Amino acid sequence: MHRSDRDVSAFRARCQEASDLIFSEASQGREILVVGHNDADGLSSIGIVSGALLEIGAKFISRSVFRIDEFFETTAEHGGRLITLVDMGSGSLSELRERLGEARLVIIDHHPPEQCELGENWLLVNPHLYGIDGENEVSAAGVAYFVIRTLIAEAHRYSALAVVGALGDLQDKGEKRKLVGLNEEIVSEAVKNNWLSVSEDFIFHGRGFKPIHQAIASTQSPFLPGLSGDEAASLSLLVDAGIELRNGDKWRTVSDLSEEEKSRLYNAVVTYLAKNNHSTEVARDLIGTIYELVNEEESSGLRDAREFSHLLNACGKTGNAWLGISVALGFRGWVLREAQKVVENYRSILKRSLETASKSLEQMHHSIVLRVGSEIDVRQVSSVASIVSSSKLIPPDKPLIVVGQEGSIAKVSARASPKLVAMGLNLGDIMKEAALKFSGRGGGHKIAAGAEIPADRLTLFLFEVDNMVGAALSVSKKQITLDDGA
Ligand code: C5P
Ligand code: C5P
Repeated sequence: MHRSDRDVSAFRARCQEASDLIFSEASQGREILVVGHNDADGLSSIGIVSGALLEIGAKFISRSVFRIDEFFETTAEHGGRLITLVDMGSGSLSELRERLGEARLVIIDHHPPEQCELGENWLLVNPHLYGIDGENEVSAAGVAYFVIRTLIAEAHRYSALAVVGALGDLQDKGEKRKLVGLNEEIVSEAVKNNWLSVSEDFIFHGRGFKPIHQAIASTQSPFLPGLSGDEAASLSLLVDAGIELRNGDKWRTVSDLSEEEKSRLYNAVVTYLAKNNHSTEVARDLIGTIYELVNEEESSGLRDAREFSHLLNACGKTGNAWLGISVALGFRGWVLREAQKVVENYRSILKRSLETASKSLEQMHHSIVLRVGSEIDVRQVSSVASIVSSSKLIPPDKPLIVVGQEGSIAKVSARASPKLVAMGLNLGDIMKEAALKFSGRGGGHKIAAGAEIPADRLTLFLFEVDNMVGAALSVSKKQITLDDGA
């Protein structure tokens, strides 16, 4: 089903087909079900599709789910309605076929699709089918945006939300943390229509509105060991660097700093990391491309597209997806205030879990395992994996496997460095294959993947994953040696 030759026109034609189908359904007054993943990209995608449905006056119900089995539970009674599944499904086509083969289904996704016959009344909109890299150059929110572009007149109002989704999925893999490929096209449209501005600066959380020490302490991507989560340590770093914290009775923000002060701050962070025996490489990710939603208030936490994606992720991972979807749809006022409380609370939950988690990393031969206890909600295992893997506490030559448990099910989230992916590691394939061997379910991208397996089979599963990682990397090392010898 994958194509190696890139065909953007055929991809657009498929987006148009999906848009026509949705339009025809809405015009006949039939209710549409919109279901998506509970992370930032999933909620952005739900927001984009739901916003367009609202605009065309369609009847619809939107909801987010944590896992595909939750999707099966919620759609068992679909009653023949058109189901629009966003940011999930492509990796589970055979299971979908078994359970919902007869349903009418549009899948708007960017996960690598399983090789499998589709159901008769299905439409799969997925960039991988057209040789477009769904891992790095367009997220599910981007695909949703391309679908609704032909459904409503002023679709560009959702372009910035598509950028939020892509950043939520960490697709800023270009130089200086730029979005690349089809995402760049979306960025251009957003800029042209005055929704977005692009610049280069420090990527501290709350850059434009938080006191500087709070901005440093709130930054989790990249995770700065010793500073992320610690306002006192961040404050003393600034004092030592001789940076004025206030301007009269007002706290200064990172955006208020002069160029000279910014470079002093950067050097202070690097020195702090080196002094505390942490890799200084992480500091490089502190400076990069900033995507700003220019119509959002500075203090809303929505102006910086990465911060917007944190807010959606926090809502999705704490059972408050409805708040995230509402914000994505444009609701502000008390809805936004509630969502902001969720973000602050989520930040302290993550801080506590990271403090315990980072002390208990287990070394396997080829990977690093982190088992989190029941103090961490399984829905948050994914965020812990993303943050710890970006912290550089993990050497770039080993993937991180984080494991949490809910009842008899173990939830696994795996993350690899770009270096490992370049060496041929595909965590999505490994999670899928290993989970199948142990009566579980797994899949995902090369760089970020996950699985759910019976908890009593966890140890064997981890050995299997470790062996598979070792095998994948040894093949790649052999190839490098042969190439060198040739
Ligand atoms: O289902 P989906 O593709 O949206 O989820 C991918 C997940 O993997 C996101 O939570 C994203 O933040 C995470 N990710 C990561 N590191 C990467 C790429 C994605 O942690 N390099
Ligand atoms: O849950 P987590 O964020 O770790 O998942 C990483 C990626 O793996 C996501 O894109 C998710 O959709 C995918 N995944 C999957 N099948 C699973 C679990 C996760 O495709 N059983």
